[in-house]
Amino acid sequence: MTQVCKTSKAIGGMGHSMKRKEDGRFLQGKGNYVDDIKLDGMLYMDIVRSPYAYAKIKKIDSEAALKVPGVLAVITGRDLEQYNLHWMPTLMSDTQMVLPTDTVMYQAQEVAAIIATSRYAARDGREAVRVEYEVMKPVIDPFKALDPSAPVLRTDKPGKTDNHIWHWEVGDKARTEAVFASADVVVKEQMHIPRIHVASIETCGCVADYSKVNNHLTMYMTTQAPHAIRTVIALVAGHVGLTEEKVRVISPDIGGGFGGKVPVYPGYVIAIAASFLIGKPVKWIEDRSENLQADSFARDYHITAEMAGTKDGKILATRFKVLADHGYTDASANPSKFPTGMFSIATGSYDYGTTFMEADAIYTNKPPGGVAYRCSFRVTEAVHAIERMTDRYALEIGKDPAQLRFDNFIPKEAFPWHSPTGWIYDSGDYEAGLRKAMDAIDYEGLRKEQTEKRAKGELMGIGISTFTEVVGAGPSKDFDILGIKMFDSAEIRVHPTGKAIARFGTKSQGQGHETTYAQIIAEELGIPAENIQIEEGDTDTAPYGLGTYASRSTPTAGAAAAVAARKLRDKARKIAAYLLEVSEDDLEWEPGKFFVKGAPEKSKTIQELVFAAYTNHPQGMEAGFEATHYYDPPNLTFPSGAYICVVDIDKETGEIKVRRFVAIDDCGNIINPMIVQGQVHGGLTQGIAPAMYESLIYDDDGNILNGTLMDYLVPTAVESPNWETGHTITPSPHHPIGAKGVGESPTVGAPPAIANAIVDALSPYGITHLDIPITPFKVWKALKEKGAI
Ligand code: CDP
Repeated sequence: MTQVCKTSKAIGGMGHSMKRKEDGRFLQGKGNYVDDIKLDGMLYMDIVRSPYAYAKIKKIDSEAALKVPGVLAVITGRDLEQYNLHWMPTLMSDTQMVLPTDTVMYQAQEVAAIIATSRYAARDGREAVRVEYEVMKPVIDPFKALDPSAPVLRTDKPGKTDNHIWHWEVGDKARTEAVFASADVVVKEQMHIPRIHVASIETCGCVADYSKVNNHLTMYMTTQAPHAIRTVIALVAGHVGLTEEKVRVISPDIGGGFGGKVPVYPGYVIAIAASFLIGKPVKWIEDRSENLQADSFARDYHITAEMAGTKDGKILATRFKVLADHGYTDASANPSKFPTGMFSIATGSYDYGTTFMEADAIYTNKPPGGVAYRCSFRVTEAVHAIERMTDRYALEIGKDPAQLRFDNFIPKEAFPWHSPTGWIYDSGDYEAGLRKAMDAIDYEGLRKEQTEKRAKGELMGIGISTFTEVVGAGPSKDFDILGIKMFDSAEIRVHPTGKAIARFGTKSQGQGHETTYAQIIAEELGIPAENIQIEEGDTDTAPYGLGTYASRSTPTAGAAAAVAARKLRDKARKIAAYLLEVSEDDLEWEPGKFFVKGAPEKSKTIQELVFAAYTNHPQGMEAGFEATHYYDPPNLTFPSGAYICVVDIDKETGEIKVRRFVAIDDCGNIINPMIVQGQVHGGLTQGIAPAMYESLIYDDDGNILNGTLMDYLVPTAVESPNWETGHTITPSPHHPIGAKGVGESPTVGAPPAIANAIVDALSPYGITHLDIPITPFKVWKALKEKGAI
């Protein structure tokens, strides 16, 4: 299905590749980021961090630091303890230190904060603080963390006797075991989806501005979820007078969030405490290494994956067992019902009877997290597991992996489809996506070429990933963060001259909301998108919402915008009927005006109708032209994709070259094709990252071995292949504009396509699996072990 634009280019509704409205200021260097904020009398904060992964703090000596010119204060956990501000809740209802009073739990943990009149003085002060530690042997390996001899890390939790956080399971265990016991073919792999970091260009930071006179806090900060943060601040600091009406959170322009700017970091809370105690604004901006070493990480799932099937390629069952390394606290932002997020989408795009999945979360001496890095709460891990196992199964029975997928896809007639783990997939046409990708890349031709190359001993691989995503958290019956339901909101105000401002509870970090939300409203009301100003990120003005992450903005706030606009169109219809002296039923709508059925010359434009709402509205009708909607989605949306990757590998060095990568995405109806393409390009690069480059590595003492961008390999344009993109369109039947989210699909879908391609290239030598990131060294080593070189 192709998408037709219903509005003219001048209106710029759905389907127009309108240039991004926000880019004017970004391209001219006029973006307004947290570090651009400078307030009168503003102080600067820097943070002393632990060099050890696990140690007792014996003494913090601030004397020399306080003598550094410009240093005003050194704040420790003991200082915060006096106000009961030394601990705070995480978004997963666990607890986290703001500053430690006794023990540090991971390398680079905050130990003390320096407040000074300049950033330089704060850094000098930081260097002058002397901390005495008693170093202890940390728990780094999550498998060893469960050993009875391992020290219990969370001694702050009364009665805790081990390092286990939670157990979760879903599916039919007995039935799955029975299917596995009698299946002709069972394949099994142990895989690790490594710990990675979002490494956004802008690090985290804030300016906490507490006014003693007004007992009011304005918090400028890099957050993806301003309202949720306001509520958390009120929960943490309400007892010292910072109740929710006294707190305003402003999230200005953000230079990339990707999930890493959802958690509440100790730095924010310390800056608030410092501003509260000193009565001046306090700025805190992380440096690059702090960002990489101490902020919440993503992934770190150890998965035992199994698939059972017939000899001729029918999947019968899957089984997944996960060990989730959460570091020293569970600070991910999963809905409380789903501690593994949406991992249970791991049944994938395939129609088979039964599955059983279980997960255990573990404390270790590493930074906290499990953030949804451009991933709807653990979908990346799930998709990697199912897509790798699908290829593993195809390899085992000697069947083409594309054909195996065709033979197992959920047929398009079967939607809405009930998955064995309880999801109801809204719509999909997986076969169409894979066919399109195969045609685009010439799959048959590539397989022929591969056969020829194999005969010559050359390594060429073709990898497929046909994934189903799950985004748009979420329906209030199931989805919440800290008990707050995951609806989202839009408020539209149209001014008398027909120009509008609309405010949202979400917060763009580069996704282009100022353009696409305007396009949704333009589609519904016929007011040109150019004339619709979009505002996000100010809790004093925007309606309450849960923020932007996990590709939820289009499914939730985008829907809210459409519904709010429709409320206004209903009002416009009433005014049109009054002005044209006909009944409402006699009116017809075309984008931008109502006209009388059969008499199109009798019409009123939306601008005339809005003006009348302020100047000449029917008696008894409320004046003005404003609407708000809080959208509680009836279901999630289930985007999908068919990705095919071709790699060439140098046998002698293990060097991998991604020769081609075709990505066909399906995100339902598209609001702005150019923005979607940009989202896909960026996401694919963030997909090649964990597949081939990125992984945070710790030694046995908990030292992070690649905590700078010198060692942590973030791919650039140089490493990125020429992404070839396209789409199919399967609208979401329940979403008001038929759209599904797209932001995270490429990051989710790309790693298994790349891993499958590499393993495909190596499979003639008996290699069945390699953990990501698949580096040249790993490839070379595997070939060496198999005697291939
Ligand atoms: O929540 P987030 O904005 O990160 O993700 P999203 O809802 O997938 O949207 C990412 C960007 O793509 C936004 O600007 C959307 O409006 C746009 N988009 C689109 O134009 N059409 C779609 N069907 C989905 C998203």
